[in-house]
Amino acid sequence: MEKVKFTAMKDGDKEDYDFLTHHEVAHTKGTADRLLAALVELDEGLSGYQISRLGHSLQAATRAERDGADTDWIVAALLHDIGDIYAPYNHDEYAATILRPFVREQVSWVVEKHGDFQLVYYGEHVGANPNKRDTYAGHPYFDDCATFCERWDQNSFDPAYEHLPLDHFAARVRDVFARTPYDPNVIQAGVRVPLETP
Ligand SMILES: [Fe+2]
Ligand SMILES: [Fe+2]
Repeated sequence: MEKVKFTAMKDGDKEDYDFLTHHEVAHTKGTADRLLAALVELDEGLSGYQISRLGHSLQAATRAERDGADTDWIVAALLHDIGDIYAPYNHDEYAATILRPFVREQVSWVVEKHGDFQLVYYGEHVGANPNKRDTYAGHPYFDDCATFCERWDQNSFDPAYEHLPLDHFAARVRDVFARTPYDPNVIQAGVRVPLETP
């Protein structure tokens, strides 16, 4: 069997769907490498800053690693702006959706909200509410998102900062996307892991 027999989903049988499941599993194994390739695409986007989007992503991930953060945090820092390619108006939600099955709940929440939290640094200059983060006051991950933005994101536009290359992070990205999706031991609902370890 090389293709399914049906042309409308409702006409497929067990053999068709077993065949597709097999194909989909093989396809999902390539997610990490497709994301790494997409990060290189980021390099072409969003001119005007002093560094490229890929450079920004690598700086953020490098800062996370140098802060002693764990793999979930480092991979999230690397991928937090990957939504800029296809979802410029909700890039934070887009990246969080990619990460959510494979990282701690804490980490995907922070990625999802980082756009709102970042406004504190520039909202006043673009007619947006700088205090949009106040919507989340009291949330258990509020301080984590504030730290993510302050230590890794808002400062990672610096051409003088020496970051690690993409290859350095590839194995971590593959490890994260090889996890069992939505495994409760991965999601660790409610668990907070510090961004910095002394
Ligand atoms: Fe962002
Ligand atoms: Fe960013």
